[in-house]
Amino acid sequence: MALIGHRTTLQEHVAAGLRDKGPSDGLGAVIMAIANGSRRVQQQVQQAALADALGTTGETNVQGEIVQRLDKASSDIFVETLSASGQVAAIGCEEIERPVIVEGDAGGGFIVLMDPLDGSSNIDVAVSIGSIFGIWQKRPGETVNDDSLLRPGNEQVAAAYVVYGSSTVLVLATKNNVSGFTLDSGSGDSGSGEFALTHPNIRIPVECPYYSTNEGNNKVLDEPTQKAIALLRNKYSLRYVGSLVADFHRNLLKGGIFAYPADQNRKDGRLRLMYEANPLGYVAEQAGGAASTGYERIMDIVPTQLHQRTPLILGNKDVVEETVAVIKAG
Ligand code: AHG
Ligand code: MN
Ligand code: MN
Repeated sequence: MALIGHRTTLQEHVAAGLRDKGPSDGLGAVIMAIANGSRRVQQQVQQAALADALGTTGETNVQGEIVQRLDKASSDIFVETLSASGQVAAIGCEEIERPVIVEGDAGGGFIVLMDPLDGSSNIDVAVSIGSIFGIWQKRPGETVNDDSLLRPGNEQVAAAYVVYGSSTVLVLATKNNVSGFTLDSGSGDSGSGEFALTHPNIRIPVECPYYSTNEGNNKVLDEPTQKAIALLRNKYSLRYVGSLVADFHRNLLKGGIFAYPADQNRKDGRLRLMYEANPLGYVAEQAGGAASTGYERIMDIVPTQLHQRTPLILGNKDVVEETVAVIKAG
């Protein structure tokens, strides 16, 4: 069953559309490297239980978190496809302590920071997980080193994520354009293997039916944050998958707000600035939404450490602003 028919493929979108929506030189190749990697990760996610590839590697990553075998496999796949694109100068990855610098002729003009597999607690239980990418251009004439990756979110030229859910969807954000592409999975007659445009020009709905937060953390929130969450609780329905990328994707399409604030146990918050908050904050803003720590715009943070964490309030612009106002009021 070939379903794509008249639909624009990601390849076509990248070849045609990016010309006036972002720096065209090489960005398309970076996006296609992400798409190609995600096709392989999607297969591994689908097959993991059958291939006895679930469970942990027995290692702890630089975040102090247990590494799942699929975290490691996804990290390896994306490092490989991005390095081979010829357009990437450096890769920062949640699972890798130091940046991967792509030396010499193989290197290119872009810096990619990624969470290769988001939603660790859902990997083994067939619940939606995903991959997240922020993309920067290296500075003119720059020789890339570890510090080159410490760039604020507002300098991103594009961001993307992939959700491995009941279908596999890649969402690409460039300046003022957010579009979603669904993988026509399988091969031969059962699917084209292409990502096809199914969600053109995504704008986050003004209506906000949902809030997404870990309610189990409520008792360790400070009082202003408790007040802000109580306001959300009183107004909206709770939806919490526990995979940021899936929670965000639902809220982007249906309207909603995601909140993972700082608390007594997580003084700097839980989520990673460079791999989660910046890329999804960029997607949200290009779709008309907002991203804040509760005190400042995520995009304006000048990072000091590759793996730094941040509180995150993300989604519908009006509701993010209202939530931030309650937190700031103290
Ligand atoms: P990762 O799997 O990349 O480490 O990220 C997990 C994150 C994120 O996906 C999710 O929003 C959050 O952890 C859930 O945390 P809690 O289990 O504390 O709610
Ligand atoms: Mn994550
Ligand atoms: Mn991860």
